[in-house]
Amino acid sequence: MPGEAVPRESRARAARLRQELNHHNYLYYVLDAPEVTDVDYDQLMRELQELEARHPGLRTKDSPTQRVGGGLSTPFRKVRHLAPMRSLANAISEREVEQFRERLRKALGSDPALVAELKMDGLAVSLTYLDGELRQGATRGDGDTGEEITANIRAVGAIPALLEHAAGTGVLEIRGEVYMLKQVLGELNRERSEKGLELYANCRNAAAGSLRQLDPEITRSRRLSAFFYACDPAPAGVTTQFELLAWLERVGLPVNEERRLLPGGEGVSELLADWQLRRHLLPYEIDGVVLKVDRLLWQEELGADSRAPRWAIAYKFPPEERETTVKEIQVSVGRTGAVTPLAVLEPVLVAGSVVSHVTLHNEDQVRAKDVRVGDRVVIRKAGDVIPELVRVVVENRGLESEPFQMPQACPSCGAELVREPGAAVTRCVNPLCPAQVQRGLEHMVSRGALDIDRLGPVVLAELIRRGRLSSPADLFRISEADLLEIPGQGERSSRQLVAAIQARRRPSLARFLYALGIGHVGERTAELLAQNFGSLESLRRASVEELAEIEGLGPVLAEAVHHFLASQGGSTLIDQLLEAGVQPQAAPRVEGPWRGLTVVLTGGLARRTRAEAEAEIKAMGGNPGSSVSKRTSAVVAGAAAGSKLATAQRLGVPILDEDQFDRWLAEPGLSPASLTTEGRQEQ
Ligand code: IVH
Repeated sequence: MPGEAVPRESRARAARLRQELNHHNYLYYVLDAPEVTDVDYDQLMRELQELEARHPGLRTKDSPTQRVGGGLSTPFRKVRHLAPMRSLANAISEREVEQFRERLRKALGSDPALVAELKMDGLAVSLTYLDGELRQGATRGDGDTGEEITANIRAVGAIPALLEHAAGTGVLEIRGEVYMLKQVLGELNRERSEKGLELYANCRNAAAGSLRQLDPEITRSRRLSAFFYACDPAPAGVTTQFELLAWLERVGLPVNEERRLLPGGEGVSELLADWQLRRHLLPYEIDGVVLKVDRLLWQEELGADSRAPRWAIAYKFPPEERETTVKEIQVSVGRTGAVTPLAVLEPVLVAGSVVSHVTLHNEDQVRAKDVRVGDRVVIRKAGDVIPELVRVVVENRGLESEPFQMPQACPSCGAELVREPGAAVTRCVNPLCPAQVQRGLEHMVSRGALDIDRLGPVVLAELIRRGRLSSPADLFRISEADLLEIPGQGERSSRQLVAAIQARRRPSLARFLYALGIGHVGERTAELLAQNFGSLESLRRASVEELAEIEGLGPVLAEAVHHFLASQGGSTLIDQLLEAGVQPQAAPRVEGPWRGLTVVLTGGLARRTRAEAEAEIKAMGGNPGSSVSKRTSAVVAGAAAGSKLATAQRLGVPILDEDQFDRWLAEPGLSPASLTTEGRQEQ
């Protein structure tokens, strides 16, 4: 009803939802680095749509419900490259490499020496140095115009701010590739999965997402690497590409070691075949080998067409796909009862490792691909990391094969499996299901939780089978006698195991919360909850709103936590653990005048390091926050403050300079707003 007053809470909630959705749109469409799952996003969107339907007065023209995300513009400044950043012509077979060499032979009259470099799978960047001093970093963009990302480039450890032996070199445009090591991607994805965030599919996406962050501190935390391979203009005295690479190295830039000079282009095909086999042994991802005419003068002579130079070619490896047979389709039951179909394969070597299982995700996915037992299937690694089933080779299918049927009963406990309408996941809803109990216990004893590493999955399974463990709380009632019943368990090891369990009766509140296995709650979130509520009792009393107040938690997690604590299953689990004598230790709360206040630092301060400033905030009982929101109490901005400053201005969060921060520390009872210039004027 137009004109009808909209309740204050609804107005506030809608504003909050709009802000969050805009933020997620930006992450998704611009940074290509979503931080929430599609399901979570849809939930926020639906909530806003419902609010707006109930109160049409809330619907604004620029509401995320009214437009599609694609039309967003990027917040990075556009910069024109001095020389265009061209791409490379591709060769996808050896024949095409031979044709490239023939063209060179024709144009130059003989077979030129070639340099072979690895084709890094990262993000192309262009650095501008003035007399050896880094002045600008930019992305490739469309080749002519890129985005200015200098602050983020400075946050890539391997990139020097100053070049050595480069006095008087004037303006140099240096080009190369920023990339992420496979190991770093693995660690990043582990962290993200713990926080319930979408994983990066490969090193390139992760590098791109990390380099295009608004906050250089995030970029820094992503531990990116880089290799450089071009410099324009060529430095004095350098006449070949091979010399150029050595020069880049000499001035302190990272250059890939795996470069080869091939006189007369000889040995190219052996080299390509060799890398195709060895590429997976490298600590980073490559998608091919680049062949370049070595002599710079000849490069100039050959020139370029509108898109790519004629003096270079990128040989692209064929994607590594392998065929194998599905021996069986198993279903596994996870900690939360989710039932996942899993194809058991005839083991096969794909992209450097043996694959014997591949997840089929859920019933719909199996049906869409129509995977059946006995099928020949094509397997590849997504981003060279996670094995996936590409398709079934239907031509080879036997007549007797039958479509896969999701079992109706849980393979572990026999209870009926349930699929909620509209959901892709099938669940076993029996909380006493042995498979769920086992997964829950495996999580509970894991390193970040109660950390009982002597209690492995085999012993757990035996104890469950023998009826000694039907809930996690039973763990604390396990006796030496129970363990001695298990074949292979000696007296000494049983005694030690019982002692190890009993020694974990008083975990920190954070470990206890993590051990509960609440969906989406990883170690960091558990820590956040423990710090903010101090005790289990006050956390159990918290409302969704109070949870959502916590800086860094967000509405989705707040809801998940609240739901778990209020649910029958969750509260019973906690009560049982307490009854069994587990005593989560209240997190020591730092008392102080800034208790409950979040203070965010941005830019460099003159008189203290960031770590020192954070320690000062903590000593006052405050939280040093990592991002600015309406709940931020104050932002302390130093030199070269970035987007956080802009956000604070937009949201009206008080902004203090270092002097004002000092005054606040001296008189911590003052309100931060009263310290700012505007605050003083108002007084
Ligand atoms: S040379 C004018 N060398 O591949 C030639 N490019 O497909 C400029 N790349 O945008 C490129 N490793 O991002 C060159 N060793 C290497 C490379 C490399 C990766 C990327 C680069 C470029 C793309 C072209």
